[in-house]
Amino acid sequence: MNKKNINPVKLINYYKLINHNLIYNNKAINRYKKDNFELSGDKAENLDKLKKSILSLNNCDLKRLAKNIVFSDGNPNSKIMLIGEAPGANEDEEGLPFVGRAGALLDKMLAAIDLDRKKVYISNIINYRPPDNRRPTDEEIKRYLPFITKHIEIINPKILVLLGSTAMNALIGNEVVISKMRGKWIEKKFGNCKTSVIITFHPAFLMRQPAQKKMAWIDLKMIRDKKI
Ligand code: URA
Repeated sequence: MNKKNINPVKLINYYKLINHNLIYNNKAINRYKKDNFELSGDKAENLDKLKKSILSLNNCDLKRLAKNIVFSDGNPNSKIMLIGEAPGANEDEEGLPFVGRAGALLDKMLAAIDLDRKKVYISNIINYRPPDNRRPTDEEIKRYLPFITKHIEIINPKILVLLGSTAMNALIGNEVVISKMRGKWIEKKFGNCKTSVIITFHPAFLMRQPAQKKMAWIDLKMIRDKKI
């Protein structure tokens, strides 16, 4: 067909008819974007919406293989939020974070600075148990990152404690190492939440490397002594 002979009005009408924007829009489709609901002033409602958006994830092997979602435990109004890596077998069974052996040590660590689960809020980077308790993959972490970021924004803690390198790398960056980053206050923003972040060792790591408990104790005292 000779292009010169095409009636421009007919061509425009034709493009409208076939909805060419839909067909030729070359923006990537983000099928993962499930977190983009507006936050209201109601924390409980926001947490409920966040949980529902995680529960509605599609095509997620972690979700398919897990028994339960592990969303959080503790007091949503606490000024201290702790974030671990991902649920293990016990957590998957009970639907609560840190209820296994690592959780028992975490409870002791909290008790050492006069805290307990009613005084803090706890979640994980990943909300479903990775099979065989393996470390979550980078792809899995990327997929769940918008949810934990929103979770932090909703809780709006004054202190954010990252337990271990998975939580640290996911939320602070991949270029950092825990041996250099632990025991320091870092000011960070997650959405509208401005918070003081501290990184410490994961309790499961401390069970394997008890000699590092003295470093974790330094970090715990920093949390205890922080003016909030
Ligand atoms: N380890 C984690 O990082 N999170 C849990 O919930 C349990 C063990």
